[in-house]
Amino acid sequence: MKFGYFDDARQEYVITSPTTPLPWINYLGCENFFSLISNTCGGYSFYKDAKLLRLTRYRYNNVPADTNGRYYYIKDGDTVWNPGWQPVQTELDSYSCRHGLGYSVFESTKNELAAELTAFVPLNNNCEINRLTLTNKSSQAKDISLFSYIEFCLWNAVDDMTNFQRNFSIGEVEIEGSAIYHKTEYRERRNHYAVYSVNTAIDGYDTDRDSFLGAYRGVNRPIVVEQGQSTNSKASGWAPIGSHNINVTLQPGEEKTYIFVLGYLENEEENKWEAPGVINKAPAKEMLAKFNTNEQVEAALNELKEHWQNLLSKYTVETNDDKLTRMINTWNQYQCMVTFNMSRSASYYESGTGRGMGFRDSCQDLLGFVHLIPDRARERIIDIASTQFEDGSAYHQYQPLTKKGNMDIGSGFNDDPLWLIACVSAYIKETGDFGILEESVPFDNDETKAQTLMEHLRRSFEFTNTNLGPHGLPLIGRADWNDCLNLNCFSKTPGESFQTCSNFESGKAESVFIAGMFVKYGKEYAELCKRTGNQAEADRALAAVDRMYATVLESGWDGEWFLRAYDAFSEKIGSKECEDGQIFIEPQGFCVLAGIGVEEGLAEKALNSVKEKLDTKYGVMLLQPAYKDYHVNLGEVSSYPPGYKENAGIFCHNNPWVSIAETVIGRGDRAFEIYKKTCPAYVEEISEIHRTEPYVYSQMVAGADAPRHGEAKNSWLTGTAAWTFVNVSQYIIGIRPEFDGLVVDPCIPSDMPGFKATRIFRGVTYNITVENPNGAQKGVAKLIVDGQEMNGNMIPFVDGKKEYSATIILG
Ligand code: GLC
Ligand code: GLC
Repeated sequence: MKFGYFDDARQEYVITSPTTPLPWINYLGCENFFSLISNTCGGYSFYKDAKLLRLTRYRYNNVPADTNGRYYYIKDGDTVWNPGWQPVQTELDSYSCRHGLGYSVFESTKNELAAELTAFVPLNNNCEINRLTLTNKSSQAKDISLFSYIEFCLWNAVDDMTNFQRNFSIGEVEIEGSAIYHKTEYRERRNHYAVYSVNTAIDGYDTDRDSFLGAYRGVNRPIVVEQGQSTNSKASGWAPIGSHNINVTLQPGEEKTYIFVLGYLENEEENKWEAPGVINKAPAKEMLAKFNTNEQVEAALNELKEHWQNLLSKYTVETNDDKLTRMINTWNQYQCMVTFNMSRSASYYESGTGRGMGFRDSCQDLLGFVHLIPDRARERIIDIASTQFEDGSAYHQYQPLTKKGNMDIGSGFNDDPLWLIACVSAYIKETGDFGILEESVPFDNDETKAQTLMEHLRRSFEFTNTNLGPHGLPLIGRADWNDCLNLNCFSKTPGESFQTCSNFESGKAESVFIAGMFVKYGKEYAELCKRTGNQAEADRALAAVDRMYATVLESGWDGEWFLRAYDAFSEKIGSKECEDGQIFIEPQGFCVLAGIGVEEGLAEKALNSVKEKLDTKYGVMLLQPAYKDYHVNLGEVSSYPPGYKENAGIFCHNNPWVSIAETVIGRGDRAFEIYKKTCPAYVEEISEIHRTEPYVYSQMVAGADAPRHGEAKNSWLTGTAAWTFVNVSQYIIGIRPEFDGLVVDPCIPSDMPGFKATRIFRGVTYNITVENPNGAQKGVAKLIVDGQEMNGNMIPFVDGKKEYSATIILG
């Protein structure tokens, strides 16, 4: 069942029913001010940090679902309704929500009154705009009362939800004209406030929640709206809100547009006040003046649309498959940008108060957005590397606001260091900017310990190289990519974090997955050494990589597939000898994509085993058989009920590894089949089962063991976005940046006749046509660049040339 459709021409997903299985959301904002917005106008806004500088309050895990947002109540006679259906839930005569690139538009009608609400965060401004147009479609005049509503959060979202003994006494506002200023804590250490205003004279306002809602009432039936009259309440403690009342008479056919702005402002310490106790409103007034007219708003919206069009023009395709085309051209890249902005902080599953930026998460996210915003990728790399420890290990997370490592979670996730090599290498391939390796970058944010970025990479490499276990495989530490395979943890205490508790530091537990990473990224490190003139270090690194390769074949192979790990007692994990958890997805994908076992014929065997043991119609499961019981020596992986999350869920993040691995051995049919299974556009038709947004990836889909097999959770903020884009763009479509130029090496299903692509790479436009006359899956038979036949599959880079046309014939 579908709840909407893709409008490809406008790059929008149009939701046609407000009662989607779960809130289907969008993100507004590209730089510092962000909002989440659901298909019923739910969500909240924050400045830079969803925990520390949250503007509006949201109630996670509330009933009814998705409570709080920017709400507009329209009172037309006895009928009260909202353009987004929530919170009043009055049945609408028509409804749609268009989620576009950085904006959402709600169009609804009730009793011949039409409302159109456009929400977006303009570029270079710290505010959300809500433009509301009301049109009288009837033949009689209508007297309308409009009420706006947002609820302010007292900035720190955790404190706001917990510290009521204080918070019920500190709420403060000012009201001036149509502008409501939220200034809680401004009197003391904050130099920022929020404003919520509308570009017209108002007939009343409320800033005290209880006065607006009435005792024991929810946002679904505020007393003020029922009575049609604001109370002009002034919040004092309790819960400050912003609500405007506008009364308007609309003649038949007449329309009126109102522009509401919710903004974040800062003042210098010395300019905080304009009079004793009165905040300096100058910056707010300046902001409001920029969005006072519809023309201004329209211009800002167009500017935003252009911004997105520019961004997404870096990589576009035309294929015979609409779903593939729209995922590549629009939604997958859009999600990559959102993960760049949000990391894992604020979604409808991530409360915005927990994890900061993950070291491994951010490094992997970069693989998906580096071609879109190389400058910001560069900055991100420096930020991430600055949190690395001198021994090459890393804080697992860092805080976006301070950019400092997070001591609470600390270090010890032994895959982290290698991801730094992965992202730096991807960045240099994209940009050719080897200069970044010379940048001086601190360790542990301590400038006195700064070394070149290249030295950081050396220490990443060495960390793995020198932390080997009894079999010569890398030690796993607290966990590798799989946060839940906690082999040194041995936790028996409820509530203890599996990631930070280590009761059993064996110094023995080893990871075959990290071994695969070491082979892949060790080679890339060696290549960087070679290209920067350090052949001796390159040779040394390659020798270590060769040793690791041999070790994996020797101690990491189980006969039909790669082992997953050795536990604290050097017992096998992910082996046919195990009762549960006999085969894991991660080493099959990563070892093969690193090239391990390809020549020996083991790669094919491993991938066949994946197909036989882990495949389902909804994607490839993480492991099988699912762990039935909790195993203290394995940790969190066995804590989840079978089929969920890391315990045999379909973890979408590592499906592309297997798909890439399939392209490594040339099986385009299978690579594409795997790609499609978790790809949201292909499961749109079963939205009642899949339940999350059909335009973005989710972290997990319930596996075959789960009662709700096929149901997705944790949409939006997942490394899946980056890896699926790497897979589809670089391996299936096969346009891949390399140090010396752009490689075109597609691995596609045999029934795909070919495709066209445009890739902007290092400022040069490549127009690429791929033809597949003989139903091949892989292999470039002919490469013609600007009319000239060339050898190989790389379009060489000629200095000064701005455009290439290349035709590739597969065969
Ligand atoms: C989550 C984490 C990621 C981890 C994965 C598997 O997506 O953000 O860091 O690798 O789960 O446990
Ligand atoms: C990752 C995993 C999740 C685990 C969490 C711990 O997000 O997906 O299952 O509980 O990390 O931080």
